[in-house]
Amino acid sequence: MVRLDILSSLLAAAGVAQAVANTPQVVPGAYIVEYENNQDTAAFLKDIKGEATLRKNLKFKLFKGASIQFKKLEKAEEMAEKIAEMPAIKNVWPVKSYPVPQHTVHSTGSALAAELKKRQVEGKDLFTPHLMTQVNKFRDAGETGKGIKVAVIDTGIDYLHPALGGCFGEGCLVSYGADLVGDKFNGKNTPVPDADPLDTCQGHGTHVAGIIAAQSSKNPYGIIGAAEGVTLGAYRVFGCTGDVPNDILIAAYNMAYEAGSDIITASIGGPSGWAEDPWASVVSRIVEDGVPCVVSAGNDGAEGLFYASTAANGRRVTAIASTDNTLSPALLSNASFKVDDGPVKSFGYTVGEPGAWDGVSLPLWAVNFDTTDAANGCDPYPDSTPDLSGYIVLVRRGTCTFVQKITNARAKGAKYVLFYNNVVGTTAVSGVVEGVRGVAMVTADQGAQFIKTLQAGSKVVPTFTDPETAPKFLANFDNILSAGFASTYTSWGPTFEVDVKPQFSAPGGMILATYPRALGAYAVLSGTSMACPLAAAVYALLINARKTSDPRTLENLLSSTAHPNLFQDGRNAYPVLAPVPQQGAGLIQAWDAARATTLLSVSSLSFNDTDNFVPVRNFTISNTAKEAITYDLGHVGAATGYTLPDNGSATPDTFPNDLTDDFATLAFTPSGKITIPAGQRRIISVRAAAPTGLDAKRLPVYSGYITINGTDGSGLSLPYLGVAGSLHSATVLNPRLTRLSRTGDSLNIAVAANTTFILPPAGHSNDTAYRNTTLPKIVVELAMGSALVRIDVVPVNSCRAANATTVLGTKSVGMPADTPLYYNPRGTLEASWDGKLSDGTYVKQGIYKLAVKALKIFGDRDNVDDYEKTETVPFRIRYAGAPEKRSPIPFQSARVKKTVAKRQENCEA
Ligand SMILES: *[C@@H]1O[C@H](CO)[C@@H](O)[C@H](O)[C@H]1NC(C)=O
Ligand SMILES: *[C@@H]1O[C@H](CO)[C@@H](O)[C@H](O)[C@H]1NC(C)=O
Ligand SMILES: *[C@@H]1O[C@H](CO)[C@@H](O)[C@H](O)[C@H]1NC(C)=O
Ligand SMILES: *[C@@H]1O[C@H](CO)[C@@H](O)[C@H](O)[C@H]1NC(C)=O
Ligand SMILES: *[C@@H]1O[C@H](CO)[C@@H](O)[C@H](O)[C@H]1NC(C)=O
Ligand SMILES: *[C@@H]1O[C@H](CO)[C@@H](O)[C@H](O)[C@H]1NC(C)=O
Ligand SMILES: *[C@@H]1O[C@H](CO)[C@@H](O)[C@H](O)[C@H]1NC(C)=O
Ligand SMILES: *[C@@H]1O[C@H](CO)[C@@H](O)[C@H](O)[C@H]1NC(C)=O
Repeated sequence: MVRLDILSSLLAAAGVAQAVANTPQVVPGAYIVEYENNQDTAAFLKDIKGEATLRKNLKFKLFKGASIQFKKLEKAEEMAEKIAEMPAIKNVWPVKSYPVPQHTVHSTGSALAAELKKRQVEGKDLFTPHLMTQVNKFRDAGETGKGIKVAVIDTGIDYLHPALGGCFGEGCLVSYGADLVGDKFNGKNTPVPDADPLDTCQGHGTHVAGIIAAQSSKNPYGIIGAAEGVTLGAYRVFGCTGDVPNDILIAAYNMAYEAGSDIITASIGGPSGWAEDPWASVVSRIVEDGVPCVVSAGNDGAEGLFYASTAANGRRVTAIASTDNTLSPALLSNASFKVDDGPVKSFGYTVGEPGAWDGVSLPLWAVNFDTTDAANGCDPYPDSTPDLSGYIVLVRRGTCTFVQKITNARAKGAKYVLFYNNVVGTTAVSGVVEGVRGVAMVTADQGAQFIKTLQAGSKVVPTFTDPETAPKFLANFDNILSAGFASTYTSWGPTFEVDVKPQFSAPGGMILATYPRALGAYAVLSGTSMACPLAAAVYALLINARKTSDPRTLENLLSSTAHPNLFQDGRNAYPVLAPVPQQGAGLIQAWDAARATTLLSVSSLSFNDTDNFVPVRNFTISNTAKEAITYDLGHVGAATGYTLPDNGSATPDTFPNDLTDDFATLAFTPSGKITIPAGQRRIISVRAAAPTGLDAKRLPVYSGYITINGTDGSGLSLPYLGVAGSLHSATVLNPRLTRLSRTGDSLNIAVAANTTFILPPAGHSNDTAYRNTTLPKIVVELAMGSALVRIDVVPVNSCRAANATTVLGTKSVGMPADTPLYYNPRGTLEASWDGKLSDGTYVKQGIYKLAVKALKIFGDRDNVDDYEKTETVPFRIRYAGAPEKRSPIPFQSARVKKTVAKRQENCEA
């Protein structure tokens, strides 16, 4: 067994997008209800006696229901449970909301009219994301996806952008769609839908749209949409700030489906790992009904294995991973500089936040002249440092945060900080520090040139104009670091039920495309958000080329023809293929997919885990060519990744995980060379044996590719994966870190036993007077995902205990409102508690503990042994200004009185 070296902390300011885990938030009192039949929503609302108002009618061909908002929040869970039992109701889910995906904005253009001058792209398509995926061959052959309708569910599209058609409606590039929310929507307030999906304030959807269909003759940078000939549908689901709730997403998907879209793409998601989530299950239905749906795999690569994102993790939903572009384009602002008394020269930079550079003309100063200094400027500057208020401080990026470097420069008076990069290109630095007016970044090369000049004893004086209006120019740098490798930020599968995720990859790192005119018109962005629309465009090209839009056929073709690549950890490549849970089938090869005559019946195989091991999986090879072909079946292993670290911790390792080159053994029946006559097919049985000698407790995920090489020159591959350990035995709950804390404590420090919380009077938590009340906060740390987390309120005083019922072995007076929690990703769940229970009542004053139970993966909900359990310390609850009423007891002997008083005291002690 060869252990591959692990590099740690490479994410620190090294030019890779940092993942921020955004656990979807539950919207209080809001539920999605699905009807069994075509029930009328007005009648339904009447049936529930006006207890709820309508959020959104969800009356569609594939989904009949509504989302509702209970008027009385305290009654919501109880009502939801009652509704779930109504015979006319199929499903009830709480509404959850999702943020605009984290993506990195590297640089943007400027809205100067002069820049929008059109430039015809002459000759062949040389746009690098297209060269990487063979999309250029379609354009060179005149195939542009004509007649195909691609729906984009996102932040809207700036269709007035000249490269995006300049208009909306019939005959325009963006020809259909709607705004489901309005500018002011923030995920919590009431959406104000209208017919116009214009994106003026966000940018994400406008970038996505340009990747699919930017008009190559209408932009100055030679940007070419991968399928310029399609028409786009824009479904705007985000306002200018905030999240999108899943009822809006479900509506948008169904609207896009009913508008006759041929493909639906969404670069939206949140950590999950469960295909059962309502949004994912609605997308699955649309795919089952024949419309391919691609969803970005997520940008949480830093979290390691088992971090699949919804709705990408839905069954039959095609999850798109990201590969880094071979070029790193940058839209740089022009500034000038002089060395000593030499001539005026120019250089490019990317403005950061703050960006008050207009009119700044000061000499450069650097803390040292070492352009390889990894932690340049991370330590406080030496005493000998001059007053830096008259300089622009030049600092190399790396190791510590931008803010720390700026703070150190500021400590010596600096007002302007110019970073030079430690990786290719530039990025927009966000570094607000009191007193600092401008931050910006230049390339590593430009920085080295300045440093060399300073070291030679010369004076370098840059002069800036207003970055808002400074001319921009496109600079392309070769991506010498990560070209063609899986992006370090791309999220890893599989799901907790061992579904293969992601399906395949497309270029998403360092992509130049359109941006709202008001935000610079063009921008370079990175994320799986940028990979997904390219895959959507490829589907458009394939639908025309293969004359089918069957999602299964197209996914199988793209998977079998994709090219897997070696593993790369952000710095170094290793001589072993990257795991399937990172890159899926690999980088798509659109032209090969369009022309393949050998078809496989599946896009991947899962052998599940050891408890549910499926030793034999079948697939079919169909030879649709005109002559018999002999196929040579083989197998190439990909790196096996350990989910858990080797120190015995139950918390999954972060990227890059420990990898080994222990591979599974596969045997094929029939074996060896298989000849399939023209027009015929053969079933191939694949018998797998997981790699041996691995530490099963660390949940190794093995994977690889079955290779199918034909005598016609075809070379296909089929990805597979499995888990060489038991997911049911995996620890899901971290009892040490599951604890009681208090609201307002962002570090979630555990409270001491018997801490007293004075809660707002029942039902008054939202009153202004009580908004700042410190509430108990339960912090549940899930080492792995759990399909069900129960929290029970356990009475500690004997008088309460007498009234409690025993649920799954725990004495409980109920569950806190908004619990239990279903289909949870791994990570931290937090819930503050104002004493309200899920049945709408409030617990009495007294001493309680919270008992947490997390269902093991593949566990049985009704079996107490399938849960992992822990309890918080006891804590005391009192209600402010509302002492518990004591009913007068008319006739009592002194002795009885004393006992009653004592019991009362216990209960409220
Ligand atoms: C940048 O500025 C320099 C000097 O001011 C000028 O000569 C050059 O043409 C400018 N370049 C662009 C792309 O605007
Ligand atoms: C793995 O086995 C479990 C238990 O039978 C099942 O629920 C799950 O769907 C299986 N996963 C796959 C990918 O077949
Ligand atoms: C796989 O194929 C073999 C040979 O055709 C057949 O006997 C077997 O039943 C198939 N297994 C499954 C699970 O479909
Ligand atoms: C099929 O072709 C690929 C690529 O050339 C090669 O790596 C693999 O070993 C071949 N498989 C067999 C079974 O010859
Ligand atoms: C908390 O209070 C309970 C009951 O009053 C008592 O038994 C226990 O010792 C206390 N715990 C601590 C740590 O003070
Ligand atoms: C809480 O109060 C705010 C403002 O008073 C209101 O907008 C909001 O809807 C209330 N939230 C709940 C959950 O009642
Ligand atoms: C709540 O706390 C915040 C921050 O400490 C403060 O600004 C605000 O005025 C407080 N509100 C009330 C109602 O006390
Ligand atoms: C016990 O439960 C009953 C019925 O739910 C309730 O009326 C009563 O107040 C409870 N008593 C205590 C001590 O919690």
